This record gives sequence, C-alpha cells and structure tokens, in this order.
Amino acid sequence: MGSNIINLSDNAEFNKAVGELRQINTGIIRHYYIYTFGCQMNVHDSEILSGILSECGFHPSPKAENADVILINTCCIRDHAEQKTLGLLGTLKELKAQNPSLVIGIIGCMTQQLDFAKKIKAKFPYVDIILGTNCADKLPAAVLNAYTVEDSKKRRTLYHDDNDSSIIENAPVKRSRSVTSWLNIMYGCNNFCTYCIVPYVRGRERSRSPEAILREVKELAENGTKEITLLGQNVNSYGKELDYSFARLIREINKVDGIERIRFMTSHPKDISDELISAFGECEKLCEHLHLPLQSGSDKILKDMNRKYDFAKYSEITKKLRQTQPAIEISTDIIVGFPGETDDDFKRTLDAVEEMRFSFAFMFAYSPRNGTKAAAMENQIPNALKKERLNTLIAKQNEISAQISSEYIGKTVEILSEGRVSDEDEDAVDKTKQMGRTRTNKKVYFVGDDDTSGKILHAKINNSVSVTLGGEIV
Ligand code: SAH
Ligand code: SF4
Ligand code: F3S
Repeated sequence: MGSNIINLSDNAEFNKAVGELRQINTGIIRHYYIYTFGCQMNVHDSEILSGILSECGFHPSPKAENADVILINTCCIRDHAEQKTLGLLGTLKELKAQNPSLVIGIIGCMTQQLDFAKKIKAKFPYVDIILGTNCADKLPAAVLNAYTVEDSKKRRTLYHDDNDSSIIENAPVKRSRSVTSWLNIMYGCNNFCTYCIVPYVRGRERSRSPEAILREVKELAENGTKEITLLGQNVNSYGKELDYSFARLIREINKVDGIERIRFMTSHPKDISDELISAFGECEKLCEHLHLPLQSGSDKILKDMNRKYDFAKYSEITKKLRQTQPAIEISTDIIVGFPGETDDDFKRTLDAVEEMRFSFAFMFAYSPRNGTKAAAMENQIPNALKKERLNTLIAKQNEISAQISSEYIGKTVEILSEGRVSDEDEDAVDKTKQMGRTRTNKKVYFVGDDDTSGKILHAKINNSVSVTLGGEIV
C-alpha cells in the first residue's frame, strides 16, 4: 500500500484556511497554548501544530490562561496519561466559562480510540475541535470554523484519519530548540505488541522518502542544528516499503556538513540488523547510545507480549553492539505485571537488568488498554503486586544507573552544549547552570559565563547524581 502524501505547501484547502485566519488575526494579537503529553513523537507533533498556528497569525502564549486557542496533544499509552487529559479538561471548563470565545481542541492519540468523540461530546461539550493523530492539515479549517460559525453546535469539528496511510510533508515547524532537533522519518507501527495501543491510534507503518528527510536535515544544519534525533514508533523498521535500509539513511545523514551528532528512537530488537550494528562502528556522528526496549526478561512473557525475540536474542544483539562500539550505553523500557507474570518471570526481569547494566530505564506497571489482546487475557495481576514489583525493579535499576554515572567521575568527556538550563528541566537543581549531553546521552551540568549553546566542549566530570553528571569545562 502506497502512502498518500499531503504536501501542505501546495494544498489549496489548507492554504485557504490559513489565509482567512491570518486576515481575522490582522490587527489583533491572539495567542495559542499547547499542552503536550506522551512521547517525543507527540513533542515533535506539537512543534508542527505550533508552526501551523503561527502561520495562521497566532502568537505563542507562555500561559494557558491568556490564550485564545488551547490545544491538548494527548497520549493514551497508559491510564495515567489519559487521566491527565481528562483532569485538564475539567479545569479548562472554567476558562471557557470566563471566555466563551476560547477555542479548545483535543488532538492526537486519545482521539483515535473507539467512541472517543462520543464520550467527549457527552462529558465535555465545550470542546470545539477533535482531531486525530495525522490531521494537522485540518487544523486551520477547524480553528476557522470555531471562530466564524455562530451556531455553537456547528462550531465543532471532528476529524480523524481512519485510513492512516498519509504522510504530511512541508508543514511549517516551530521547533522549541535549535541545537538539537527532532525529525520524524516514519509513522505508525505494525507490531501489535499485545499490551500496546499505539498501532490502533497511530496506524500502519509508513516511511518518508529519503529525499524529503535529507532535504530537511540539510535545512536544519544550515539553521544551526548540530544534533538530529530521528523519530519513529519502530524507527529501525524505516524504509521497508521503499526498499531502502535504515542503516543507509544513517550513512547518508552522516555525510551532511554541520550535523555533528545523530541519534534515533525507538528501536525494536527484531529490526536491529547487522548493517545497523556496523553503522555504530562506521559512522562517526552516530552517538554511542541506543534505546532498546527489553520489556521483560522472561521468554514466556516476551512471547505473550508478541515481541518476536527471546532474552538470548536480545542479549546477543547487545553483545554484538558492544563489540562493534565498546563505548555504547544501552537504555531500555520495562513493563512489570503483564498478565500471567509469576514471581519467577519477574525474577528473570531483575536478573536481566543486572546482566545488561542499562544506563537507565523507563519502568512501567502494566496498564490494560481497551481493545488490545492483553487487556482480555486472564490472570491479570493485582495493582498492589504490580506496584510492589515496580518499586523493587526501580530500586535495583537506580542503583545500577547511579553506579554507571559514578564511573564518569575523573574522566573528561565530549559534550554538546544546549546552553542555559530550561525551566522544564526537572533534573536541573541549579537553574543558573548550563547543560550539555555526552555522546552516551548523559546530561552534564556546568557553570559558564557566556552562553555556550551549540558548542562542542570538553567537560571534566567531578560529581554524579543518579543519571546526571556535573563537571567543569576544560
Ligand atoms: N514504539 C516504542 C514506544 C512505545 S511506548 C517502542 O516500541 O518501544 C513506550 C513504552 O511504554 C513501551 O516501550 C512500553 O514499555 C510502555 N508501554 C506501552 N504500552 C503499555 C501498557 N499498556 N502498560 C504499561 N506500559 C506500556
Ligand atoms: Fe507499541 Fe510494540 Fe509498536 Fe512499540 S513496537 S509502538 S510497544 S506495538
Ligand atoms: Fe502516547 Fe501516542 Fe506517543 S499513545 S506514547 S503519544 S504514540
């Protein structure tokens, strides 16, 4: 199945709505605010939504309270993520009561769920726009509709892409950072891990053309980007339908002047090819870090999760990677409390964590998702036990993460400075400091007078706190 390319630069419908909104906004300063939940993919999608609203003549607002258009870019990977959006919708009701012309939109993964629109209409009738994960092209028309249609019932736009085969190209992007940039290279997922909602809400796998990607990489390099992070739900499955390998794409990006570092996420172990492993030895810009979700150390659980590898296979991949690139650090995702997980299965996960020595891990308690296979499995694990296992795992991994960080003390490492720490950086204790990342993706905090943003520096590490480091520039 071919992808349907929606080219925004010559999309008449899109450009007409953008033009009309610009006119409506002439002489008036109107603001937008976007809440973003979920993964990097969503963070980057919000950069596109920001770019589009800016094209329409809206200005970013630092606070939701002052905004005329509020979007929530949603996530439904776990129940907790959904609750955050539902809670937020409750508080936005008050803003809408104070300002009836406020436009509220819900975008992204949550909206693609079965009956979601019906639920929202019933519980949150003041929501004006509901748009699916792949519908940024419809945003201007939806906002225009909310502004210009008098009848409150007709003000609402509901749209989602059931076909899920489209790729939006040439969208205006308003990136929140410039030194390091996210870049989507593929969309969707075909894996159907039995616990996961993503294939249902993000559709089937489809890859952007290498030409479009390389063009964007070159543009970013010309505008000061030093580090590119390639994004995809199953990023290393890139190019299958184009007969173009992911490793080849990395080799091409490695040649682009101005780009100093390449990263990618998230990879699936089943798609780690020997060609990709070799790239870690060949491409000097490819950083020595790989995020490779293990999910469980038990072969039985991995099978029930439909992960298509066993622990021996995973372990073999990491060995090959470490042989090719001894400096590589591997991080992971782990789920505890998957249906049927016994004490013995859980112990295998603990043993795996011990053996693998991950530099860090995102660890989760299994959250049943409506419509997925695992949600219908018997032997669901009680919440209290999930929590207990999660705490045990976190304690063990934290010890390992801290140990790996402490091994940096006394060493001098290359960092790419991202300049002064941002307010959102939860790891930063001292907001006057600057931050740069090692090639292994560790944050290093340091004191510097001038803003060093975008510079490759060398830092001597003198302390470590869990996964972060502190040092001085040498
Ligand atoms: N596409 C990526 C990321 C998927 S979501 C990948 O395949 O790795 C990020 C992580 O959330 C997953 O790796 C998994 O560990 C976790 N996750 C997904 N569904 C979950 C669920 N229902 N309950 C708990 N954790 C889940
Ligand atoms: Fe979900 Fe599995 Fe696809 Fe990752 S690979 S998005 S965990 S179905
Ligand atoms: Fe969440 Fe959607 Fe990402 S469900 S994790 S925002 S793909």
